[in-house]
Amino acid sequence: MNEVHRIIQERQSARVPFDPNQKVSKEHLLQILDAGRWAPTAHNMQNFDVVVVDDKEVLEIIGNVKSRISEVFLRENYEQLSFSKEELLKKKTGILGAMFPPAWVDPSKMAEVARESAPMPLTQSIRGSPCLLIVVYDTRKRAPASEGDVLGFMSLGCAMENMWLMAQSLGISLQILSSFAASPVGKQIKQILCIPEALKIAYTCRLGYPTGSTRYLRVRRDIADFAHHNKFGTKGI
Ligand SMILES: Cc1cc2nc3c(=O)[nH]c(=O)nc-3n(C[C@H](O)[C@H](O)[C@H](O)COP(=O)(O)O)c2cc1C
Repeated sequence: MNEVHRIIQERQSARVPFDPNQKVSKEHLLQILDAGRWAPTAHNMQNFDVVVVDDKEVLEIIGNVKSRISEVFLRENYEQLSFSKEELLKKKTGILGAMFPPAWVDPSKMAEVARESAPMPLTQSIRGSPCLLIVVYDTRKRAPASEGDVLGFMSLGCAMENMWLMAQSLGISLQILSSFAASPVGKQIKQILCIPEALKIAYTCRLGYPTGSTRYLRVRRDIADFAHHNKFGTKGI
Protein backbone atom coordinates (compact mmCIF):
# COMPACT_ATOMS: atom_id res chain seq x y z
CA MET A 1 0.00 0.00 0.00
CA ASN A 2 1.50 3.38 -0.89
CA GLU A 3 1.58 6.36 1.46
CA VAL A 4 -1.46 8.14 -0.05
CA HIS A 5 -3.54 4.97 0.08
CA ARG A 6 -2.52 4.40 3.72
CA ILE A 7 -3.54 7.93 4.74
CA ILE A 8 -6.85 7.62 2.85
CA GLN A 9 -7.64 4.40 4.71
CA GLU A 10 -6.55 5.70 8.10
CA ARG A 11 -8.52 8.95 7.88
CA GLN A 12 -11.61 8.70 10.01
CA SER A 13 -14.11 10.84 11.88
CA ALA A 14 -12.97 11.60 15.41
CA ARG A 15 -16.16 11.78 17.46
CA VAL A 16 -14.44 12.02 20.84
CA PRO A 17 -13.42 14.94 23.08
CA PHE A 18 -10.20 16.75 22.17
CA ASP A 19 -7.62 18.18 24.56
CA PRO A 20 -8.38 21.92 24.72
CA ASN A 21 -4.83 22.65 25.85
CA GLN A 22 -3.10 20.93 22.97
CA LYS A 23 -3.12 23.55 20.26
CA VAL A 24 -2.82 22.92 16.56
CA SER A 25 0.36 24.71 15.56
CA LYS A 26 0.34 27.54 13.05
CA GLU A 27 2.70 25.54 10.84
CA HIS A 28 0.29 22.61 10.73
CA LEU A 29 -2.70 24.89 10.17
CA LEU A 30 -0.94 26.43 7.20
CA GLN A 31 -0.23 22.97 5.79
CA ILE A 32 -3.90 22.01 6.15
CA LEU A 33 -5.04 25.23 4.47
CA ASP A 34 -2.47 24.74 1.72
CA ALA A 35 -3.93 21.30 1.05
CA GLY A 36 -7.37 22.92 0.78
CA ARG A 37 -5.96 25.55 -1.58
CA TRP A 38 -4.76 22.89 -4.02
CA ALA A 39 -8.06 21.04 -4.14
CA PRO A 40 -9.75 20.72 -7.52
CA THR A 41 -12.74 23.07 -7.87
CA ALA A 42 -15.18 23.56 -10.74
CA HIS A 43 -13.73 26.11 -13.20
CA ASN A 44 -10.94 26.59 -10.65
CA MET A 45 -13.36 28.96 -8.89
CA GLN A 46 -11.83 28.12 -5.48
CA ASN A 47 -15.27 28.88 -4.16
CA PHE A 48 -14.48 28.91 -0.45
CA ASP A 49 -13.09 30.97 2.38
CA VAL A 50 -12.04 29.47 5.67
CA VAL A 51 -12.42 31.19 9.03
CA VAL A 52 -9.85 29.70 11.40
CA VAL A 53 -11.11 30.02 14.96
CA ASP A 54 -8.54 29.28 17.65
CA ASP A 55 -9.11 32.15 20.07
CA LYS A 56 -10.38 30.69 23.36
CA GLU A 57 -12.83 33.53 23.93
CA VAL A 58 -14.30 33.27 20.42
CA LEU A 59 -14.56 29.48 20.79
CA GLU A 60 -16.41 30.05 24.05
CA ILE A 61 -18.83 32.52 22.48
CA ILE A 62 -19.56 30.06 19.66
CA GLY A 63 -19.88 27.29 22.26
CA ASN A 64 -22.66 29.24 23.97
CA VAL A 65 -24.80 29.28 20.82
CA LYS A 66 -27.62 26.81 21.29
CA SER A 67 -28.98 24.43 18.71
CA ARG A 68 -32.18 22.41 18.63
CA ILE A 69 -32.56 18.96 17.20
CA SER A 70 -35.15 18.79 14.42
CA GLU A 71 -37.63 16.01 13.79
CA VAL A 72 -36.56 15.95 10.14
CA PHE A 73 -32.97 15.25 11.20
CA LEU A 74 -34.06 12.53 13.62
CA ARG A 75 -36.22 10.77 11.00
CA GLU A 76 -33.68 10.99 8.17
CA ASN A 77 -30.83 10.06 10.51
CA TYR A 78 -32.78 6.95 11.50
CA GLU A 79 -32.78 5.77 7.86
CA GLN A 80 -28.98 5.43 7.97
CA LEU A 81 -28.73 3.52 11.24
CA SER A 82 -27.90 -0.07 12.08
CA PHE A 83 -28.72 -1.43 15.50
CA SER A 84 -26.03 -4.08 15.84
CA LYS A 85 -22.48 -4.50 14.60
CA GLU A 86 -23.64 -7.52 12.60
CA GLU A 87 -26.32 -5.45 10.85
CA LEU A 88 -23.82 -2.69 10.03
CA LEU A 89 -21.26 -5.18 8.70
CA LYS A 90 -23.94 -6.73 6.51
CA LYS A 91 -25.28 -3.41 5.21
CA LYS A 92 -21.79 -1.92 4.66
CA THR A 93 -23.23 1.63 4.67
CA GLY A 94 -24.43 3.97 7.39
CA ILE A 95 -23.58 4.22 11.06
CA LEU A 96 -24.42 2.60 14.38
CA GLY A 97 -27.52 3.74 16.26
CA ALA A 98 -25.54 3.36 19.50
CA MET A 99 -23.74 6.61 18.60
CA PHE A 100 -26.88 8.56 19.51
CA PRO A 101 -28.94 8.96 22.72
CA PRO A 102 -31.60 6.18 22.89
CA ALA A 103 -34.53 8.61 22.53
CA TRP A 104 -33.10 9.93 19.23
CA VAL A 105 -33.32 6.50 17.64
CA ASP A 106 -36.83 5.60 18.76
CA PRO A 107 -39.29 6.65 16.02
CA SER A 108 -42.17 6.78 18.49
CA LYS A 109 -40.38 9.46 20.52
CA MET A 110 -38.90 11.62 17.78
CA ALA A 111 -41.66 14.23 17.61
CA GLU A 112 -41.57 14.60 21.38
CA VAL A 113 -37.75 14.78 21.49
CA ALA A 114 -37.73 17.51 18.85
CA ARG A 115 -40.47 19.43 20.68
CA GLU A 116 -39.38 19.00 24.29
CA SER A 117 -35.57 18.74 24.30
CA ALA A 118 -33.72 21.68 25.76
CA PRO A 119 -31.55 23.46 23.17
CA MET A 120 -27.96 22.20 23.38
CA PRO A 121 -24.99 24.56 23.51
CA LEU A 122 -22.50 24.03 20.68
CA THR A 123 -19.83 23.46 23.29
CA GLN A 124 -21.23 19.90 23.36
CA SER A 125 -20.29 19.57 19.71
CA ILE A 126 -16.96 21.40 19.95
CA ARG A 127 -15.94 19.06 22.80
CA GLY A 128 -12.68 20.73 23.71
CA SER A 129 -11.46 21.34 20.17
CA PRO A 130 -8.85 24.13 20.26
CA CYS A 131 -9.44 25.00 16.62
CA LEU A 132 -12.36 25.13 14.20
CA LEU A 133 -12.15 25.65 10.47
CA ILE A 134 -15.40 27.23 9.35
CA VAL A 135 -15.69 26.84 5.59
CA VAL A 136 -17.94 29.33 3.84
CA TYR A 137 -18.97 29.91 0.24
CA ASP A 138 -20.62 32.67 -1.74
CA THR A 139 -24.16 31.67 -2.66
CA ARG A 140 -24.18 34.26 -5.51
CA LYS A 141 -21.32 32.65 -7.42
CA ARG A 142 -22.43 29.31 -8.77
CA ALA A 143 -20.24 27.15 -11.00
CA PRO A 144 -21.09 27.72 -14.69
CA ALA A 145 -24.10 25.80 -16.02
CA SER A 146 -24.38 23.86 -12.78
CA GLU A 147 -27.98 23.32 -11.80
CA GLY A 148 -28.35 23.92 -8.08
CA ASP A 149 -24.59 24.61 -8.01
CA VAL A 150 -23.91 20.90 -7.65
CA LEU A 151 -20.43 21.45 -9.07
CA GLY A 152 -19.81 24.17 -6.50
CA PHE A 153 -20.83 21.83 -3.66
CA MET A 154 -18.61 19.07 -5.02
CA SER A 155 -15.76 21.56 -5.02
CA LEU A 156 -16.35 22.33 -1.34
CA GLY A 157 -16.15 18.60 -0.68
CA CYS A 158 -12.85 18.36 -2.52
CA ALA A 159 -11.41 21.06 -0.26
CA MET A 160 -12.78 19.17 2.75
CA GLU A 161 -11.09 15.92 1.78
CA ASN A 162 -7.75 17.56 0.95
CA MET A 163 -7.68 19.28 4.34
CA TRP A 164 -8.80 16.12 6.13
CA LEU A 165 -6.09 13.98 4.51
CA MET A 166 -3.44 16.56 5.34
CA ALA A 167 -4.64 16.71 8.96
CA GLN A 168 -4.52 12.92 9.09
CA SER A 169 -0.97 12.87 7.74
CA LEU A 170 0.05 15.33 10.48
CA GLY A 171 -1.53 13.24 13.26
CA ILE A 172 -4.34 15.76 13.78
CA SER A 173 -7.86 14.43 14.33
CA LEU A 174 -10.87 15.95 12.60
CA GLN A 175 -14.62 15.76 12.77
CA ILE A 176 -17.03 17.46 10.39
CA LEU A 177 -19.81 19.39 12.12
CA SER A 178 -22.66 19.98 9.70
CA SER A 179 -24.95 21.44 12.33
CA PHE A 180 -23.00 24.73 12.32
CA ALA A 181 -24.37 25.41 8.85
CA ALA A 182 -28.06 24.99 9.66
CA SER A 183 -30.14 28.02 10.49
CA PRO A 184 -30.60 29.63 12.96
CA VAL A 185 -27.24 28.43 14.34
CA GLY A 186 -25.36 29.32 11.15
CA LYS A 187 -26.77 32.84 11.27
CA GLN A 188 -25.56 33.39 14.83
CA ILE A 189 -22.09 32.04 14.06
CA LYS A 190 -21.89 34.30 11.04
CA GLN A 191 -22.71 37.27 13.25
CA ILE A 192 -20.08 36.31 15.83
CA LEU A 193 -17.41 35.95 13.14
CA CYS A 194 -18.51 38.96 11.05
CA ILE A 195 -19.07 36.74 8.01
CA PRO A 196 -20.77 38.74 5.22
CA GLU A 197 -24.49 38.11 4.69
CA ALA A 198 -24.08 36.62 1.18
CA LEU A 199 -21.77 33.89 2.41
CA LYS A 200 -23.10 30.63 3.77
CA ILE A 201 -21.41 28.18 6.09
CA ALA A 202 -20.80 24.92 4.21
CA TYR A 203 -19.30 22.89 7.04
CA THR A 204 -17.05 23.14 10.04
CA CYS A 205 -13.95 21.05 10.70
CA ARG A 206 -13.26 20.43 14.35
CA LEU A 207 -9.52 19.87 14.73
CA GLY A 208 -7.39 18.65 17.59
CA TYR A 209 -5.80 15.88 19.53
CA PRO A 210 -8.15 13.28 21.04
CA THR A 211 -8.16 12.49 24.74
CA GLY A 212 -9.03 8.83 24.06
CA SER A 213 -9.25 6.31 21.27
CA THR A 214 -11.04 7.46 18.12
CA ARG A 215 -11.44 3.91 16.78
CA TYR A 216 -14.91 2.66 15.97
CA LEU A 217 -16.44 0.14 13.58
CA ARG A 218 -16.10 1.61 10.07
CA VAL A 219 -17.69 -0.10 7.11
CA ARG A 220 -17.48 0.31 3.36
CA ARG A 221 -19.04 -1.43 0.39
CA ASP A 222 -16.76 -3.74 -1.56
CA ILE A 223 -15.55 -2.49 -4.93
CA ALA A 224 -17.73 -5.11 -6.61
CA ASP A 225 -20.77 -3.57 -4.91
CA PHE A 226 -20.46 -0.24 -6.72
CA ALA A 227 -18.14 -0.67 -9.72
CA HIS A 228 -19.69 -1.70 -13.03
CA HIS A 229 -17.58 -2.91 -15.93
CA ASN A 230 -18.34 -1.31 -19.30
CA LYS A 231 -22.08 -1.62 -18.68
CA PHE A 232 -24.12 -0.78 -15.60
CA GLY A 233 -25.03 -4.04 -13.92
CA THR A 234 -21.87 -5.93 -14.85
CA LYS A 235 -20.41 -5.83 -11.37
CA GLY A 236 -16.71 -5.56 -10.56
CA ILE A 237 -13.76 -4.96 -12.86
C1 LIG B 1 -20.69 16.49 3.81
C2 LIG B 1 -20.40 15.72 5.08
C3 LIG B 1 -21.06 16.05 6.26
C4 LIG B 1 -20.79 15.37 7.44
N1 LIG B 1 -21.38 15.77 8.62
C5 LIG B 1 -21.02 15.18 9.77
C6 LIG B 1 -21.50 15.65 11.02
O1 LIG B 1 -22.26 16.61 11.11
N2 LIG B 1 -21.10 15.00 12.16
C7 LIG B 1 -20.24 13.94 12.11
O2 LIG B 1 -19.88 13.41 13.16
N3 LIG B 1 -19.76 13.47 10.93
C8 LIG B 1 -20.12 14.07 9.78
N4 LIG B 1 -19.62 13.62 8.60
C9 LIG B 1 -18.72 12.47 8.59
C10 LIG B 1 -19.38 11.19 8.06
O3 LIG B 1 -20.44 10.79 8.91
C11 LIG B 1 -18.30 10.13 7.97
O4 LIG B 1 -17.32 10.55 7.06
C12 LIG B 1 -18.84 8.77 7.55
O5 LIG B 1 -19.73 8.26 8.51
C13 LIG B 1 -17.71 7.77 7.35
O6 LIG B 1 -16.94 7.65 8.53
P1 LIG B 1 -15.38 7.99 8.57
O7 LIG B 1 -15.22 9.47 8.35
O8 LIG B 1 -14.94 7.62 9.96
O9 LIG B 1 -14.72 7.19 7.50
C14 LIG B 1 -19.88 14.29 7.42
C15 LIG B 1 -19.21 13.96 6.22
C16 LIG B 1 -19.45 14.67 5.07
C17 LIG B 1 -18.69 14.31 3.82
